[in-house]
Amino acid sequence: MNRASVVEIDPGAIAHNVAWLKEQAEGVRVLAVVKADGYGHGAVTAAEAAIAAGADGLCVALVQEGVELRRAGIEVPVLVLSEQPVEQLGQLVAHGLIATAYSARFVDALADEARRHDVSGQEVHLKIDTGMNRVGCRPGDATELAGRILARSPHLMLGGVFTHLATADDSDPTETERQLDRFENALAQLRRAGVDPGLVHAANSAGTVCHPRARFDMVRVGIAMYGIAPSVSMTERCSGLRPALTLRSKVSYVKRVAAGEGVSYGLRHRFEHPTTVATVPIGYADGIPRRSGSDGSSVLIGGRRRPIVGVVTMDQLMVDCGDDAVRVDDEVVLIGRQADAEITANEWGAVTGTIGYEIVCGLSPRLPRRVIS
Ligand SMILES: Cc1ncc(COP(=O)(O)O)c(C=O)c1O
Repeated sequence: MNRASVVEIDPGAIAHNVAWLKEQAEGVRVLAVVKADGYGHGAVTAAEAAIAAGADGLCVALVQEGVELRRAGIEVPVLVLSEQPVEQLGQLVAHGLIATAYSARFVDALADEARRHDVSGQEVHLKIDTGMNRVGCRPGDATELAGRILARSPHLMLGGVFTHLATADDSDPTETERQLDRFENALAQLRRAGVDPGLVHAANSAGTVCHPRARFDMVRVGIAMYGIAPSVSMTERCSGLRPALTLRSKVSYVKRVAAGEGVSYGLRHRFEHPTTVATVPIGYADGIPRRSGSDGSSVLIGGRRRPIVGVVTMDQLMVDCGDDAVRVDDEVVLIGRQADAEITANEWGAVTGTIGYEIVCGLSPRLPRRVIS
């Protein structure tokens, strides 16, 4: 695909970030989270860079994401982070993916599937909900569920027990500590019942960096491996990271607009002075939030920040270039660096009322990914 607008991925930055996170994790295992097409960076590119930098395994959200990695020849352990539809368990088992379980129904279905495939030792990690209230069994049910998994030996094997933190990026550690207390109590109960939990894990990127207590045997790092701080407040703490994604385009059209004229649908933005307007061929169908103009987002052209004006349209957006001599084909950077200026995914997120995660995950497949070396 040949387009002026392109997502450029630097696998060297991903490798650097994984190495930095390994240092932060102080020796425990590191799983690289490559769900959602590697947070928009390309799952296989991200996985290969992470493995080269020493990641011990990968995490995905869906069976099909795990299958994509296997089809690319990736053989390291791949954990699917939540229970999956029963119809997909055949694929999960056949591709040697690690399952996550938190219900009796799922454990039984997985064991039946492993038996049908004549597989022994299908690895399962038990997920305990310690307060986020998304998925996971109640702490009080963990021992019974672990027993159910063990009872289905040799088809099933309990390889780990984990939880997920809801507020690890918060400067107030109270909720994280409460979740970790509940998790440790559940682990103690398991051990008292004679259950070996296998690999214990809890930390996401923020937990890895900010909460040594959450590191246990293994951490699961997503956003930070892409060089994006988990929250704006963690920017300083994550200054060792390098953003791996640049979103670039080129000016496709330039015109001078008279004072009093408006721009884009609804003509909601009006120019007070005669202004040079550059059009950039990227829009909300590519994942640029439609409201970016009214919310005050900028792009870089000629090494300077310039405001997006008017609503972003499906395929194009307009930029106020004042009186500057901007030309067709001039480079536009929407996320990344140009000369001394930089716009980060977190900045886009903050300006448009969301987070860097949503900005990079939302970059649509219509944008070609170019891997740089
Ligand atoms: C269960 C689980 N673990 C780890 C992660 C990685 O989180 P982060 O990207 O904040 O590092 C996620 C991401 O959403 C997740 O759902």
